[in-house]
Amino acid sequence: MPTVAYYTLGCKVNQYETEQIRQDLERAGCVTVSSNSRADAYVINTCSVTGVADSKSRAAIRRAVRLNPDAVIAVTGCYAQLQPGRVADIEGVDLVFGNDEKEQAAERILARLGIVPSVSAAKTEVALRRRTRALVKVQDGCDQFCAYCIVPLARARKYSRPIEEIRTELEALASCGYREVVLTGIRLGSYENGGNRLPELVRMAADVEGIERIRLSSIEPWEVDASLLDAMDRPKVCRHLHIPLQSGDDDILSRMGRPYTAEDYLLTVENVRKRFPDVGITTDVIAGFPGETEEAFENTLRMVTDAGFTRLHVFRYSQRPGTLAAQMTGQVPTDVRKRRADELIRVGLIAMADFASRFVGRELAVLIETTGPTKLLTGFADNYVEVNLAGDVGLKGRIVRVKITGVNESGKATGKVAAGDRLAELGAAR
Ligand code: SF4
Ligand code: F3S
Repeated sequence: MPTVAYYTLGCKVNQYETEQIRQDLERAGCVTVSSNSRADAYVINTCSVTGVADSKSRAAIRRAVRLNPDAVIAVTGCYAQLQPGRVADIEGVDLVFGNDEKEQAAERILARLGIVPSVSAAKTEVALRRRTRALVKVQDGCDQFCAYCIVPLARARKYSRPIEEIRTELEALASCGYREVVLTGIRLGSYENGGNRLPELVRMAADVEGIERIRLSSIEPWEVDASLLDAMDRPKVCRHLHIPLQSGDDDILSRMGRPYTAEDYLLTVENVRKRFPDVGITTDVIAGFPGETEEAFENTLRMVTDAGFTRLHVFRYSQRPGTLAAQMTGQVPTDVRKRRADELIRVGLIAMADFASRFVGRELAVLIETTGPTKLLTGFADNYVEVNLAGDVGLKGRIVRVKITGVNESGKATGKVAAGDRLAELGAAR
C-alpha cells in the first residue's frame, strides 16, 4: 500500500483540512507515515499569512522532494492558492490545488498514485484522528479585509456548515473517546447557517453526550456579545476566549480597518470577566504595522499589561502583496518591528506568569496532552493555563484535577494530581 506523509503550516483550519485529506486517503488504503520519512506521496498544506510562512511553505516542499524525488508531491493551502505558479515552478511538484479544491485533493492524489478508491466511507468517520483534542471546522472564509491580512484573498468564499452535520461529527468524535473539541473557523464569530449562529452552535455542542469540553478557537472583539456569553455559561464550555487585539492604539486600529477602539476592547474583556471571573483571554498582536509610532507602540504595550492576558501571540508585521497595508506610507523598518515584537513577547510572558500565579493553591481541571522531554506531563486547564506535572503517562487524554503549586520560569503553572482524584492517581488503570 502506498505511504503518504503530511506537513501542515498555518492555522487550525488548515490542520483540520489536512486531517480530512488524510482520512480520505487512509480510507482508500494509503498508510500514513511521519513527515520526515521517505513516502510515496507528500501532502504539503501551506500558509501565506506572513513572508516567513511563504518561505517555510517553500522549504517544506523542497524538503519533501529531497526525501523522495520520485514521490507524488501535492501542494495545497493558502500559499498554493495565492501563488500557484511559484509553487508549480518548484522542481518535483506534481499537483497544486487551492483551498477550494481541497475536497478533491485525495481523489487527485490517488489518481497520480494509480489507485482507484474502492470503498467510500461516510465523511464523518473520525476513528483515526490522532489528537487528544479534536478540531472541528464549522466555518470558512472572511470578507472583513483588515488592512494587513491576506486571508480574505486566500479564502474568499464564506461558508458555514449545517448545524446537524456538525452534530453528527461531534457525536462520532465523542464515540471515539475525544474529550475536548475546538470549534474552529476562519471567522468563527460569523458562523451562520439556517438561522443558527455561534450561540446556537455552542449550545448544541454542549448537549452532545461524551464531549466534556468545548473550546472556541478565535473570536473577533466585536463578535463577543451577551448571547454568546449566555451560551458559554455551561460547565462544558471552556472559560477561555481568544480575542485578537492586534493593536492597543486607536489610530493604528483604524488604519488596520479594525472596527473598535482600545477602550471598546477593554470593555469587552471586562464584560467577559464579570461573567466568568477566572476566564483566560488570549490574544494576537502585530508589532510594527505601518504608521506605528513609538507612542502607538507604547499604547499597545500598556494595553497588554492592563488587559491581563493569559497568553500573547506576537506577530511582526509582514507586508503581504495585494493587501491595503502593503501600499501604506510609514512602513516601519524591520529592525524596529523585531525590537517591538521582542518587547511584546517579554511583557506577554510576564502577563502569562501573573495570570497562572492567580491559581496557585487552587485546583484546575487539566486535559493531559503530552509528555515532554523532561518526562513531565503537560496539559491545559479549561481557561488555557498550561500546566506541567509529574504523573503516569497513562493519564494522556484524560481530564484530571490538578492542584497548582507554582509557576515556572516560562510562565507555565506547575502542579500535582489533586488528592482525591483517585482514578487519576491510579493512572493507566482507567
Ligand atoms: Fe483577517 Fe481581519 Fe478576517 Fe481576521 S477578521 S481573517 S484578521 S481579514
Ligand atoms: Fe495561513 Fe491560510 Fe490559515 S494564510 S493562517 S493557512 S487561513
